[in-house]
Amino acid sequence: MSAVMSIRDLVVRFRTPRGVLEAVRGVTLDIPEGASVGIVGESGSGKTVLSRAAMGLLSGSNVDRSGSVTFDGAELVGLPRDHVRQHFGTGIAMIFQDPMTALNPVRRVGVQVAEGLRIRLGMSRKDAAARTSELLAMVGIPDPAAAMRKFPYQLSGGMRQRVMIAIAIACKPKLLFADEPTTALDVTVQAQILELLAGLRANLGMAMVLVTHDLGVVANNTDFVAVMYAGEIVEQAPTTELFANMKMPYTEALLKSIPTVEARPAGRLPVIEGRLPDPTDRPAGCGFAPRCSYAQARCREDHPPLVDAGNGHLYRCWFPLAAPARRS
Ligand SMILES: Nc1ncnc2c1ncn2[C@@H]1O[C@H](COP(=O)(O)OP(=O)(O)OP(=O)(O)O)[C@@H](O)[C@H]1O
Ligand SMILES: [Mg+2]
Repeated sequence: MSAVMSIRDLVVRFRTPRGVLEAVRGVTLDIPEGASVGIVGESGSGKTVLSRAAMGLLSGSNVDRSGSVTFDGAELVGLPRDHVRQHFGTGIAMIFQDPMTALNPVRRVGVQVAEGLRIRLGMSRKDAAARTSELLAMVGIPDPAAAMRKFPYQLSGGMRQRVMIAIAIACKPKLLFADEPTTALDVTVQAQILELLAGLRANLGMAMVLVTHDLGVVANNTDFVAVMYAGEIVEQAPTTELFANMKMPYTEALLKSIPTVEARPAGRLPVIEGRLPDPTDRPAGCGFAPRCSYAQARCREDHPPLVDAGNGHLYRCWFPLAAPARRS
């Protein structure tokens, strides 16, 4: 299976008044053509910075990026920003966590969807309007003609997210980054949006990177998973392999923190005890050691390397969890 995107040793550093903050620390990851890859981790683990850096969307004089990201065989790191931009829409597209901030509040929905078609595909106003209507129907918006005339605030959260998806898929990208596409939505709507994305992915043959803090979402919607902790991938495997043969205590802790419908009445997500290490002052050993119930002296001293367990399963732990059969 060839990769539509290959990320190699990607490092992202922010120079901040408090010192250098290494938000992504040597990530290597392939996104196979047409596959769905989940990136999962707690808030602050570096999921968004990784996604944005991979797409060339991070800029600013305080950002340093090194390593390699190839898309469709072309290197993106080091390319001038407008060259990277040529890939957007037609090659790579992105949907964001909060569609209210990503959509322009004072422009009608139809205009915002049609814009990409006119700019990127050079469509006439009339053709773009017709295609916009088709796209809105494709993403399950009941009355596209009426929706096109509305402003974003006149739509529900789920409908706005559908509009964002319509914009993202308008130019048939090969790769879609979806950064927490359903976090702001209630559970029922979340399921509908994930189902919509799965259907579109199959129809368009596009690959997807699904960023989430919820391993439950990963289990049902991805072929491969990368678990991030403090800027690193700490476990990575085909999804079925990960759940059958989990190695990292951190991944297990994430699994235990999956919210259930009954357990979130106050809207608060269960969290793992303790905090992520200070990103400007990382501990010497494993970053999870202070919070890990299995940690031993070595974990606090030596940084664990990535170990290959076979079956495409990699992990970073001195004392991995035993296979379920051996644990009991
Ligand atoms: N522009 C920036 N300047 C400085 N630090 C940043 C910047 N953007 C992100 N960071 C830091 O990088 C780290 C990773 O942040 P990131 O947004 O990627 O986390 P995340 O995994 O996406 O979290 P969440 O689940 O909350 O979205 C955090 O410590 C964050 O404070
Ligand atoms: Mg994020």
